[in-house]
Amino acid sequence: MKDVEKIVASTEGIPVDEEIVERRSRYDPVRPLDPEALIEVQDLTKQYGDLVVLDNISEVIRSGEKVAIIGPSGSGKSTFLRCLNVLEDPTSGNVFFEGNNLCNPHVDINVQRRRMGMVFQQFNLFNNMTVLKNITLAPVHIALHDLRREKMHNGWTKFCNLFRKKDKKQPLIPIQRDAKTIRADAAENAMRLLARIGLADKANVYPSTLSGGQRQRIAIVRALAMNPKVMLFDEPTSALDPEMVGEVLELIKELADEGMTMVIVTHEMGFAREVATRVFFMDGGKIREQGTPEQVFGAPQDDRLKEFLSKVL
Ligand SMILES: Nc1ncnc2c1ncn2[C@@H]1O[C@H](COP(=O)(O)OP(=O)(O)OP(=O)(O)O)[C@@H](O)[C@H]1O
Ligand SMILES: [Mg+2]
Repeated sequence: MKDVEKIVASTEGIPVDEEIVERRSRYDPVRPLDPEALIEVQDLTKQYGDLVVLDNISEVIRSGEKVAIIGPSGSGKSTFLRCLNVLEDPTSGNVFFEGNNLCNPHVDINVQRRRMGMVFQQFNLFNNMTVLKNITLAPVHIALHDLRREKMHNGWTKFCNLFRKKDKKQPLIPIQRDAKTIRADAAENAMRLLARIGLADKANVYPSTLSGGQRQRIAIVRALAMNPKVMLFDEPTSALDPEMVGEVLELIKELADEGMTMVIVTHEMGFAREVATRVFFMDGGKIREQGTPEQVFGAPQDDRLKEFLSKVL
């Protein structure tokens, strides 16, 4: 855990505080079981009152996997996805991301979430901001926040150094970018992403003037602008007119082909079959069956899965 935290912290450009790492690991007796897991879920249960929506799920998702989650309405697919980045607080159990327990209150959930892109059915773009602003908002906010922290850290170190002997003086964090450069870099990255999906000319328009397919592709590149390690999609095409489904699936497929780890809740069985490396069938808050698309679609074992497939295929 200590090592993983150091790696995460160093990639974020945040100084590693050995003491905090030590203190956290003392508070955090549960450990991930699989050292290779990108996401590991242990005994995850979610209840709303008496309603058990997720029933003691344990699962591992490794880097590079493309997991499709299928199952009937109300089976807990969205809740499971939302528990993976703790948008929904699990009632019990633990979720590890790169070895960090997201359910541990001593882990900075916001730092961890930066690396988990989420795309919703309803796009969730800010309609009062231009497309460009939508994409740059979070990266700029975070980089400025980090810059402030680094400056504060340096200010405090400088002050303390005044009282330290020459050989005990602490080094300052090298600050490489100012606020202006941060904004310019984020805009450049956003324009590169928009060019990639052929929407560079829409940078300065508002989302309400765009089609559903365009909006969803922008929501996807907005998540990509955070440079995520995993993308979580919750039925990304369900709210789209049929003729726009293809362009969104095509973009997701491109990301999959580039090696992006993804978990995608979908009703598009053909897409799941083509793109997924593993398929989970959920029913009644459990993963009732899982396997390769060939196994799940070609030779289903579970009776509920057989019944489900007979309705949707
Ligand atoms: N905030 C909430 N409060 C109470 N019950 C909830 C809440 N969110 C979800 N549920 C219930 O949890 C169950 C699972 O919901 P969830 O949205 O995860 O299902 P789903 O498999 O994604 O369904 P769909 O395919 O319709 O999107 C449902 O019975 C739902 O009514
Ligand atoms: Mg859902």
